[in-house]
Amino acid sequence: MCGIVGVLGEHEAAPILVDALKRLEYRGYDSAGIATVDNGHLSRRRAVGKLVNLSDLLVHDPLSGKAGIGHTRWATHGAPSVENAHPHQAGPVAVVHNGIIENFRELRTELSQSGIGFSTETDTETVALLTQHHLNQGHSPVEAARKTVARLHGAFALAFLFDGEDDLLIAARKGSPLAIGHGDGEMFVGSDAIALAPMTDTITYLEEGDFAVITRTSLEIRDANGELANREKRIIHMDDARVDKGLHKHFMAKEIAEQPQVIGEAVRHYLSEDGNSVDLPGDLDFTQVDRLTMVACGTAFYACLTAKYWFEQLAQLPVEVDIASEFRYREPPITKGTVALFVSQSGETADTLAALRYCEGKADSIVSVVNVSESSIARASDLSLPILAGVEVGVASTKAFTCQLTVLLMLALKAAEQRGTLSPERISDLLSRLRATPSILNAALEQDGAVAKAAQQLSESSDVLFLGRGLMYPLALEGALKLKEISYIHAEAYASGELKHGPIALIDKTMPVVVMAPYDALFDKTRSNMQEVLARGGKVVMITDEHGAHDTASDAWCTIVMPEIDPVLTPILYAIPAQLLAYHTAVAKGTDVDQPRNLAKSVTVE
Ligand code: F6R
Repeated sequence: MCGIVGVLGEHEAAPILVDALKRLEYRGYDSAGIATVDNGHLSRRRAVGKLVNLSDLLVHDPLSGKAGIGHTRWATHGAPSVENAHPHQAGPVAVVHNGIIENFRELRTELSQSGIGFSTETDTETVALLTQHHLNQGHSPVEAARKTVARLHGAFALAFLFDGEDDLLIAARKGSPLAIGHGDGEMFVGSDAIALAPMTDTITYLEEGDFAVITRTSLEIRDANGELANREKRIIHMDDARVDKGLHKHFMAKEIAEQPQVIGEAVRHYLSEDGNSVDLPGDLDFTQVDRLTMVACGTAFYACLTAKYWFEQLAQLPVEVDIASEFRYREPPITKGTVALFVSQSGETADTLAALRYCEGKADSIVSVVNVSESSIARASDLSLPILAGVEVGVASTKAFTCQLTVLLMLALKAAEQRGTLSPERISDLLSRLRATPSILNAALEQDGAVAKAAQQLSESSDVLFLGRGLMYPLALEGALKLKEISYIHAEAYASGELKHGPIALIDKTMPVVVMAPYDALFDKTRSNMQEVLARGGKVVMITDEHGAHDTASDAWCTIVMPEIDPVLTPILYAIPAQLLAYHTAVAKGTDVDQPRNLAKSVTVE
């Protein structure tokens, strides 16, 4: 994670860098810093905590200069502190870094043997010191940076700035994404195009192993073999109307409320003109597919788990689902006839990208479901399906999750159509119900008050269990994840049927159990599991529909009533109370809803 930015501009760099960092704060917010070169003089400012602390510091202690680099940090090596904050400076060079230098201990030992000391616990300081070492040996800044980068193992995106060089930035990438922005007599560097959106829409993405020498009027890129490389310039259409909460107190609240609209847009995007079928933006013949391997992390992984039920039940297609960090190192055999499907909001998650690279040349095709169409995962896919959720700012994913579900369900319906496993009438019926979901989701959002009441009670607990069966099991997992990440309450989820195989030992009157159970074919089974909880003094928060509430409300501690919906569509609907429950619990506890501790929006390290 971490966000990096660089500018060789015509105007003062500090405000531009801070504004760009604001756009990258989703990547980490432990500390932030910038460095500039002003009339040849390199200086830096750094502050612990959110970016606003750096802005405050710059008011009292400004930095001038039209060339600069900046960084917002998610700590990997060394606690969040001013010393560990980037840019790291060693004499005449300052460096910002996203990623992990895996061989930094060896490099430290080597540098120590040359009498070079360290003042931080970070891996990045090694990069600055090694570059200074090369400068001291008489190499030019470009050569010093090149020799340094050649020694680094791991994943990194780096930007270098040098004392005495008002018109030079060096950028290098291996593993972590890096974009170069082209202005009019100005050049920029950013972890993504969003960071550079106000400055330019003309972007060149560096590729693996690229090393770029940048001045205001030139860009020279060499590939991993040192050969001059010609990288495409792309015009990026970036929605710039983002950093705005509207009338909401938090981005998360706004993003929860946006779901009817964005899901409606996603459905329209993939619906055929006659409304009876799904149109994909490329070729994918499911009659030739034997197996789907789905890989993702966190919330996106739970979207995949949900989709497994859909692909298997609706399209009779065997599906494996894996967490990216496990998949990539397990090295599973990818047999012929396998489509590898990667789901990622950011499209930059390091583990998911590495899992994708593992499947390259092995899977029949690589498909991704992403929110950021210009992301590394989208660009590396044979077919990339945008979820059209719009920019998601809240660190806890909400609208991206339900848009992922929507697109995955439509893909499963496409597979069912091609494989002939559902009748055209049933497909058309499900699609028209999907078209109608926005109004049902609006009705679910009206339960906000009831959810807030239940959340008030949950906020006093230190542990919460979530239970669900069938399609509600992945939803229970997602509900528990949401609650953990923003309210810091310990939460676990189990398939309802698993409760009696161990977790039931936890049940007592201090343990609320959130049961997610629409009145479907599995309801009676889940109701029995609820009774098992009640018999042991447990308190049940029941999320169900009117039928279900009629049967259980008298026993439940509180009941949240959802509108009726076709059982196939329940995950999209029941995500809403799960998100609202976490949101209101966090608000009741007074935690930082949009930027919860220790987390970052885009996880670009392993
Ligand atoms: C949780 C959350 C994370 C992400 C995960 C994968 O609310 O947002 O669990 O889902 O880090 O991120 P992407 O989808 O960007 O690959």
